[in-house]
Amino acid sequence: MGMNVYVFFVFCICVTSALPTSCGSFEDLQPTCSFLAPPARSSSTRGTIIDISHTYREDLPSFEEDDGVGVVIQLVASIANGSRANQSFLKMGVHTGTHVDAPSHIFQEYFDSGDHVDTLDLYALNGFALVVDVPRDTNLTAEAMQALNIPNGVERVLFRTLNTDRRLMWKKQFDSSYVGLTTDGAEWLRDNTKIKLVGIDYLSVASYDYLIEAHVVLLQNKDIILVEGLNLDNVAVGLYELHCLPLKLLKSDGSPIRSITAVYVKDVLSCNLVATLC
Ligand SMILES: *[C@@H]1O[C@H](CO)[C@@H](O)[C@H](O)[C@H]1NC(C)=O
Ligand SMILES: *[C@@H]1O[C@H](CO)[C@@H](O)[C@H](O)[C@H]1NC(C)=O
Ligand SMILES: *[C@@H]1O[C@H](CO)[C@@H](O)[C@H](O)[C@H]1NC(C)=O
Repeated sequence: MGMNVYVFFVFCICVTSALPTSCGSFEDLQPTCSFLAPPARSSSTRGTIIDISHTYREDLPSFEEDDGVGVVIQLVASIANGSRANQSFLKMGVHTGTHVDAPSHIFQEYFDSGDHVDTLDLYALNGFALVVDVPRDTNLTAEAMQALNIPNGVERVLFRTLNTDRRLMWKKQFDSSYVGLTTDGAEWLRDNTKIKLVGIDYLSVASYDYLIEAHVVLLQNKDIILVEGLNLDNVAVGLYELHCLPLKLLKSDGSPIRSITAVYVKDVLSCNLVATLC
């Protein structure tokens, strides 16, 4: 048996989407909280794991395609045909479904410097993340980003948007009217937060009108990882332990991932920080 994973960190946070600016920085919140989480030993103390990956299925939408991703798994040897084992072949683009972008996706110099998916920082890909709801009547502009009042120390943010309400990841035909970051929205995040991971609930963190520009703004800082095509259907706004694990594909500009969130600190409000700090 493997070792138990002990989780001693407790983060306390105001679990609303629009946090007042007087909320203080994310780091400031921690020492104020005297409650120490018990070691996580069983599913009951570890909280609930929520699978935020989409299943790779034929009718999963594919960027700028009408017919979805199509067949990704094909049986190449089968017991029914006299083979000793069933064996399948996997075939899909590296930006299919729930996936990450590596800096080499957009920049030739990062391709040359080896900043591919196999060298992405696992510490950036795994850790506490804030799931935020964004207003439904706008793309992710600088104005919209600023209004969210994301606490200062937050390093990972997952945006739950109109895309989830419209169930776009459940529609085979690509829809370019999805919500994403505009260039100034991306610039605002880059310049005003410590965010190292940006996740979204459709195939691109950048809105269609700013597809390349907003990608460039974020990936230029090669410490920022983009996670796209998340399934946030069952995730409420709040703080989660996030795990994103790309395949270790040598020199690849992206990779499908299995991504989960777990609520390690369910009773965040027990610290009364909302009252104290906001
Ligand atoms: C099994 O054999 C049939 C008949 O030859 C063929 O059509 C089918 O593709 C084979 N399937 C696999 C998985 O080998
Ligand atoms: C192997 O593949 C066949 C299709 O050829 C399928 O009917 C069967 O259920 C598979 N067997 C196992 C053990 O998965
Ligand atoms: C977001 O931008 C896209 C184009 O990139 C547009 O089609 C869509 O209507 C916009 N959505 C909202 C809510 O403003």
